Amino acid sequence: MKALILSGGSGSRLRPLTYTNAKQLLPLANKPILYHIIEKIVKSGIRDIGIVVGDSREEVERTVGHGGRWNVRISYIHQSMPLGLAHAVKTASEFIGDEDFLMVLGDNVFGTDFKPLIKNFYDNKANTSISLYKAADPSQFGVAVVENNRIVKLVEKPKTFISDLIITGIYVFDKSIFSAIDIIKPSRRNELEITDAIEKQIEMGGKVTFNILKGWWKDTGKLHDMLEANRLVLDGMKAEYKAVQAENSVCTGKLWIGKNVVIKNSNIAGPVIIADDAIITNSYIGPYSSIGKAVKINDCEIDNCIILESAFLDGIDRRISGSLIGKNVVIKSSEKRPYSNIFLLGDNSEIYFKNNY
Ligand code: DAU
Repeated sequence: MKALILSGGSGSRLRPLTYTNAKQLLPLANKPILYHIIEKIVKSGIRDIGIVVGDSREEVERTVGHGGRWNVRISYIHQSMPLGLAHAVKTASEFIGDEDFLMVLGDNVFGTDFKPLIKNFYDNKANTSISLYKAADPSQFGVAVVENNRIVKLVEKPKTFISDLIITGIYVFDKSIFSAIDIIKPSRRNELEITDAIEKQIEMGGKVTFNILKGWWKDTGKLHDMLEANRLVLDGMKAEYKAVQAENSVCTGKLWIGKNVVIKNSNIAGPVIIADDAIITNSYIGPYSSIGKAVKINDCEIDNCIILESAFLDGIDRRISGSLIGKNVVIKSSEKRPYSNIFLLGDNSEIYFKNNY
């Protein structure tokens, strides 16, 4: 069995971060989302992995490499345009050949293993197996209608409610998916939908089975979901009980502190992860913060944040919470009059602040 990760697409909902970074490389607990996925694939016993990439091919290839880190083989498949998940699968047909394959969406993270779905596929001699997840608001996802334990209908982003069972980003296929993809037409969002291809398989008499995903699952496409995924990943990590070098500071809770990190006159309340070379002075770093490499934080209060490499935060009066801050971003208080707000912001940046407190 092979594995295919879909890492093309544009990531428009996480702009401006995705102007410079593939969304699949954004970090959760300081590790790119793709690493989290690859680790789960490797754990399920698969050693031959293909990654479908678009414009961000170079960056993905540079960051992920060819598998040496996990002792597996990773190949890259270029999709010239993000024309839909089924189009991405079709693009990978040469890599897949006649083998069965596990497919994972490159912006999804899971608290569970992939093995139960693979077992479901082989135990039932299925053509396709998918994992479903019961959710309160399924409108932004593909959903499955299940009757008498069988899938009777699959709809991509239904306009009106038909089921609360979301199709998550893990699938197992045999080669019959390729003939189903050949028959389907682009959807109303002009994409070749994998959901339509699976429904076509059912229509053609193919065997499509499902399991209900146990544990958590997150599509990281939006800020709120990224932060929640970061919290879930930190919660699931084992604490490292090693002495923290911190001068005149209080460090409590689960902490992961990298090499050459300087902590002075600060209060760090875990779960918190701080990458190598970061410098934290006169600050409070509260629960569920992931602080990237060489980040500098002085005179600030922070919690529930993801802060990327080399950002610099200095002298912010009000607590920074629930934020995703990109590489090399600088946020500083004004040092000289006029004490005005100065912004140098890229397209689609977002700032929320409270006046006059
Ligand atoms: O997250 C689960 C949902 O993912 C499912 O419920 C839906 O049925 C499924 O269609 C998918 O919907 P999204 O709209 O969230 O898919 P998105 O465009 O975000 O793409 C998912 C991943 O696939 C992402 O890593 C980008 C990659 N991709 C996407 C497209 C459209 C490609 O590699 N090529 C593409 O052409």
